Amino acid sequence: QEIDGQGFVLMPGFIDMHCHLRDPGYEYKETMETGMAAALKGGYTTLVAMANTNPVIDNAVVLKANLDKAEALDQCTLIQVSAVTKDFGDSELVEFETVRPLTRVFSNDGVSILNPEIMIQGLKASTKLDFLLLTHCQPETALVQRDIALLEENGGHLHVCHISKKDTLDLIREAKKKDLDISCEVTPHHIFASAMDYKVNPPFRTYPDRRALIDGIKDGVIDICGTDHAPHSEEDKLKGAPGINNFEMAFAMYHTVFEQNGIELEKLSEMMSDAPAKRLGLKAGLIKERYPADLVLVDLKWEGKINPKDFISKSKNNPFGGETLKGKVLMTMVKGEVKYDVNGPAL
Ligand code: DOR
Ligand code: ZN
Ligand code: ZN
Repeated sequence: QEIDGQGFVLMPGFIDMHCHLRDPGYEYKETMETGMAAALKGGYTTLVAMANTNPVIDNAVVLKANLDKAEALDQCTLIQVSAVTKDFGDSELVEFETVRPLTRVFSNDGVSILNPEIMIQGLKASTKLDFLLLTHCQPETALVQRDIALLEENGGHLHVCHISKKDTLDLIREAKKKDLDISCEVTPHHIFASAMDYKVNPPFRTYPDRRALIDGIKDGVIDICGTDHAPHSEEDKLKGAPGINNFEMAFAMYHTVFEQNGIELEKLSEMMSDAPAKRLGLKAGLIKERYPADLVLVDLKWEGKINPKDFISKSKNNPFGGETLKGKVLMTMVKGEVKYDVNGPAL
């Protein structure tokens, strides 16, 4: 197949360090099928899917079922996160040894690990079994402070999800000066807007917090641009469910904010593809053989509004439909095969 990319930019496929696919158990919000179709439309080729499904992904059997489903679907590459504790509870740990061969990411989400003993066990296991432990950090700054202290005492591989406050960023900036293995991510919505009346966790913060996050991107303290894609039905949103449906708007939101702040496209690509690849141990760039590529073709000059009503995602919960954004995904390839084409038939 010949593709004319004249005037457009070819980038490495985006790797989302943090999303919610709702499968199994909340299929009325999203399924793996609709989630991955939406992700491909957004330029995402690899997804790290959180474990707050029903049942919670807290054992090898349910985790394997999701991996099998993703393989049969043959859309995005799935990295399925395992919970740290059984049913996200406060006492019983997941069997790390049996789950580890199926994933290298462990996290509770929606709820944080409040019990410090559990956090210590998780950190120690992350060293022993070589996996990445995500901390969900809610309440944010106090918990990150505790987690950094525990990381200092016990070692481990720690990634801090969706940071939204200047205070949190400052803690991570200091931690990175020490010999600690810590990384962190932002979401599109926290760097795009502040003080918005829309339910999401962490909540929209102040304008100075938002500016601090953008500075944290510029000076390299923030490693990764995630999505925290969190689809919810209209009814659940009315009942107060937190979350924003991000896959189909994330690239345009990030690109718009980066451009407005004079941050180069190379930096965006690093934070959307290279940094998550490295952090997830996908060893980008080390492959010498001819290898089927994950790529995304983007139009950086496209400017317009993206209407959540047009989302492929099963849910439409996104408050940014009125915003003029810049940047559009035209085509997404996974392992050398076109999986999304803006001009083509639905694949
Ligand atoms: O806004 C959020 N939505 N924050 C979370 O921590 C969980 C997520 C969800 O699962 O809906
Ligand atoms: Zn979260
Ligand atoms: Zn999340």
